[in-house]
Amino acid sequence: GLDSKKHPFNPKFKEIHPTTKDDLVLPEGFTYDVVASYGDKINAAGDTFGFNNDFTCFLPIDGKPDHGLLWVNHEYLGELEYYVTGYDTLTADPDDNKRTSAQIEKYLYALGGSVIEVKKENGSWKLVGDSKYGRRVSGLTKHVLTGPAASVAKEAIGTFANCSGGVTFWNTVLSCEENYMDVVSDCKLQDVNQYGWVIEVDPFDPKSTPKKHTALGRFSHENTAMVLAPSGQLVVYMGDDAKDQYVYKYVSKGKFDPKAGKNNSKLLEEGTLFVANFGKGKWVALDYATNDALKKAVNGEGKPLFASQADVLVNCRDAAKAVGATPMDRPEDLEVHPIDGSIFIALTNNDKHGNFYGQIVRLFETDNNHAGLEFTFEIFAAGGPQSGFAAPDNMAFDSAGNLWVVTDISSSSINTGIFKPFGNNGVFFIPTSGNSKGIASQFASGPVGSEMTGPWFTPDEKTLFLSVQHPGENLKSHDKPTSHWPKGGSSVAMPSVVAITGF
Ligand code: FEO
Ligand code: CA
Ligand code: CA
Ligand code: CA
Repeated sequence: GLDSKKHPFNPKFKEIHPTTKDDLVLPEGFTYDVVASYGDKINAAGDTFGFNNDFTCFLPIDGKPDHGLLWVNHEYLGELEYYVTGYDTLTADPDDNKRTSAQIEKYLYALGGSVIEVKKENGSWKLVGDSKYGRRVSGLTKHVLTGPAASVAKEAIGTFANCSGGVTFWNTVLSCEENYMDVVSDCKLQDVNQYGWVIEVDPFDPKSTPKKHTALGRFSHENTAMVLAPSGQLVVYMGDDAKDQYVYKYVSKGKFDPKAGKNNSKLLEEGTLFVANFGKGKWVALDYATNDALKKAVNGEGKPLFASQADVLVNCRDAAKAVGATPMDRPEDLEVHPIDGSIFIALTNNDKHGNFYGQIVRLFETDNNHAGLEFTFEIFAAGGPQSGFAAPDNMAFDSAGNLWVVTDISSSSINTGIFKPFGNNGVFFIPTSGNSKGIASQFASGPVGSEMTGPWFTPDEKTLFLSVQHPGENLKSHDKPTSHWPKGGSSVAMPSVVAITGF
């Protein structure tokens, strides 16, 4: 059992067993409310909640734990696109993109993110359908670029492939553009350099223009984890979720000023991007001015790869490779331990290296200096039949430092072969200290075909928000949905955000 003195946050749940049930299965005593589903009205103007909700974060209104804004990412459509645009990817010729411009517009509107207002009333969480804060930031929304590579595009139209993200210390949200190349191709877009960035949105100002911060580099961004270094500099940890890609951190030039409020956003415009070399335990600066390896790097024809810092930031993957960074097994979330400052990294898997189950790595900055250049690391927990989880993805800490991890076994391999014992994707609870350190207990199991993403606790830790993403994925035909969650019957499954209570 858990020691409630050592663990002030003690969920006291009896773990569930893997299941293939088409429901969100929770331990006894826990329940969930469906807060928002695809297509729900979110403001008086009639904007609607986007598709395939991913990252969620709760920002209290007037400090209340039961009333606030949720920022929710909308990542992709994939084969469920049929239910959004009517375009049937199961029967379409993949080499002949026949989407109409109306379908492309629907596609782009369904992605990006939503600001929604949520409230707990009479014991259940509800969406405020006519909220003055309700807002869509979509694949059609104008963004401004900041930082050294802002010159690559005068302005950026839209954000999409928004996977996970993070919050800033000044109450704005960072949202990460991950597999943007799929959307660029499906929607026949031109300037690819507008995408693959970290965006910043102010959910409390519906008229604000979202920013794309180029200083944080361009790659398949999974999430951001922000922390302060002893110097007062801002540090943002980030992963590039692709096979054999890298772990990064950004260190701001200036120092965080609590009195400056939203002006601290400037800190994300000027700083140094580092990439991790796990062999040497070193952070290497991707700084064109000081790193000779970047000046000397050439392509196959012997031509220089980079001529400026903007080139380095736009082509981060090439830059990381040129400086000898360590290729990783698909870095998903990075999160900072709330008590000891160590960095947890979910490496989801990499079949290229026979790493099928993934693991969670714990990185310790030397002297706990997040702006420093040296670190050590250990494997904190490995996925597999023994540990009971596979393919770790998003993570969240509670205030006692327990880790909550969601899994993302891909829709094509879930419940087959070596993944059969795991059942549907789930949520796992893993203490990071004490007798049960590193031991996973299953807290939740998702509907058929789904992955749960974006776990986020309210400040009182009485509610856990979760996204149920892509229920019903991996279909044979759109006439035969494999999931009917959340409405049941013969309904088509709908990605939805839920609020879990019972803690
Ligand atoms: Fe969209 Fe890396 O998961
Ligand atoms: Ca996903
Ligand atoms: Ca993810
Ligand atoms: Ca994933």
